[in-house]
Amino acid sequence: MTEAAHTPRVFSGIKPSGGLTLGNYLGAIKRWVDMQDQGMETLYCVVDMHAITVWQDPAALTHATREVAAAFIASGIDPAKSILFNQSMVSGHAELGWIFNCVARVGWMNRMTQFKDKAGKSAEKASLGLYAYPSLMAADILLYHATHVPVGEDQKQHVELTRDIAAKFNHDYKCDNFFPAPEPVIEGPATRVMNLRDGSKKMSKSGASDMERINMTDDADTIAKKFKKARTDPDGLPDTLEGLQGRAEARNLVDIYAGLSNQSPEAVIAEYAGAGWGRFKPALADLAVDKLAPISTEMKRLMDDPAEIDRVLRHGADQARAIAEPILARTREIVGFVS
Ligand code: TRP
Repeated sequence: MTEAAHTPRVFSGIKPSGGLTLGNYLGAIKRWVDMQDQGMETLYCVVDMHAITVWQDPAALTHATREVAAAFIASGIDPAKSILFNQSMVSGHAELGWIFNCVARVGWMNRMTQFKDKAGKSAEKASLGLYAYPSLMAADILLYHATHVPVGEDQKQHVELTRDIAAKFNHDYKCDNFFPAPEPVIEGPATRVMNLRDGSKKMSKSGASDMERINMTDDADTIAKKFKKARTDPDGLPDTLEGLQGRAEARNLVDIYAGLSNQSPEAVIAEYAGAGWGRFKPALADLAVDKLAPISTEMKRLMDDPAEIDRVLRHGADQARAIAEPILARTREIVGFVS
């Protein structure tokens, strides 16, 4: 049998493990806000079940879950326009995840670079959940028949695996097009924000020095200080983008400026051609404070009322369940489960 065509639907998620950085904001949340207003249904999820693939202190997990939700809302994700919820409140993720564990092949999991990076030499001691993580991620997306998945470059392989799982399920169960083949949506100048002290490394929430990243909870003074102290090179800004070749730190600051000001890196270079860091860095610091400080202030306000955040998440989970339930019911029927 062939199922009906799929309407466009966006799904994406962030793990609540530790804090959020400028990388999460420019690479994900800000783009999700833009997609919210493009006429597609949007689901944004705090993926707490993914977080526990590595040990999380329970109280810290609760706090981080609310903080990611607060960051979404403070950044402009509007619970009246988008479905905002945490994964564990919708049990269909776990249920479909299991079915996909039985569709995906061990060989496919062995090719996932993120598992190799994260588990490293101690793969024997990694949780079984960390290994199966990509199949739960496929369930997150396909539980809603989502068609568009905004993610960073590092998650592209997981979205491709999701397509493979969808195709194999549809083929094995002879239900052509039941699960859609979702597209990864990877775009924008600053989808990969780099470390402020070492431009060859990604900005990460777990790096040793706090000076190497901008946290979404940083206040105005901290944001300004970090940009003013960001590492650069002796040359100032070039006249063309090519002049940033091989200058990772300089390129990163231009990309951040572009991302925060909604311009292309070319436009930023055109504006600051030949400028020294003494001019560019304060301008970047002002721009960043302007855009980010209101978000951290609003996050703080929201975090003072956790019951309200929980209420928003519960409402989102109800909406998510309403979409998932018929898809899950049909899946059970296709698989042959008696209900
Ligand atoms: N794996 C993603 C990350 O580490 C998070 C994630 C989980 C996700 N499920 C998802 C992203 C579904 C997009 C869609 O960043």
